[in-house]
Amino acid sequence: MSRTAYVNGRYVRLDEAAVHVEDRGYQFADGVYEVIAIKDGHLVDEEPHLQRLVRSLGELKIRAPMSNAAMRVAMRELMRRNRVRNGMIYMQVTRGVAPRDFAFPANVPSALVMTVRRMRPQPANAVEDGIRAITIPDIRWHRCDIKTVGLTAAVLGKQRAREAGAYEAWQVDRDGYVTEGTSSNAWILTEDGTVVTRPATNAILSGITRRSVLELAKANKLQFEERAFTVAEAKAAREAWITSATSFVLPVTQIDDRVLGNGKAGSFTLKLRALYMSYATGDGATA
Ligand code: PDD
Repeated sequence: MSRTAYVNGRYVRLDEAAVHVEDRGYQFADGVYEVIAIKDGHLVDEEPHLQRLVRSLGELKIRAPMSNAAMRVAMRELMRRNRVRNGMIYMQVTRGVAPRDFAFPANVPSALVMTVRRMRPQPANAVEDGIRAITIPDIRWHRCDIKTVGLTAAVLGKQRAREAGAYEAWQVDRDGYVTEGTSSNAWILTEDGTVVTRPATNAILSGITRRSVLELAKANKLQFEERAFTVAEAKAAREAWITSATSFVLPVTQIDDRVLGNGKAGSFTLKLRALYMSYATGDGATA
């Protein structure tokens, strides 16, 4: 079965789906995106993802291409046409098509593209053994809270991770504090059993998985703090993990050359992952 994409109101074969060469997403990375996990046919945290999309659009003064209600209908139709019940939906909104000029074009409709794909297999034993993160300087701009398609720093960071045999790269600010991964939020569990993750300021993307995990931590009376942590603190942590719509809660068992604990996923992280997975399939505690 060929895959189907949604392009500006039309459902088209993915291998024929195309946008104009003067789309501002293509020329200026002048657009935003969202990624939502699909679990057993259910869109995980659909509402907060759509709300974040609206926020990102608002911050860049891009008109929403349609209402969230219409978006929900189009997303379901795309999932149905692709027969995907476990995977992810990618949606991208750009400022539209116009002759290349930096300032905003007048009266141009924004452009919406959506694709759906099946769950990409995790590396073997990623959950049991955890993954390795390297640390790299954070070279991004000052509005990392906006989910823009301008992802050059993330592309370079992920490639460095891959070349180092790692799964993710944790970006580090000038003061030595971890901001976040290239496509995930970063977490540690300190020696005294406190969950620590960086506060959602302009320095990071306010992850939807992060938000749900914090809610689960609250509901389960886990000790947590939203504060920045250094690379040194992370390397001395009892456990560490990342969160994102595509990795859920994934243990980090090595940071650069430092192995955490016995090098296997820690019991706390696995418990948190189980809590999140049951929440994501809709039968856990409400977050
Ligand atoms: N990335 N931080 C960054 C920089 C991200 O790109 C992402 C998500 C996250 C986690 O956010 P959420 O929990 O809402 O997925 C944090 C997506 C998955 C991507 O770009 O593919």
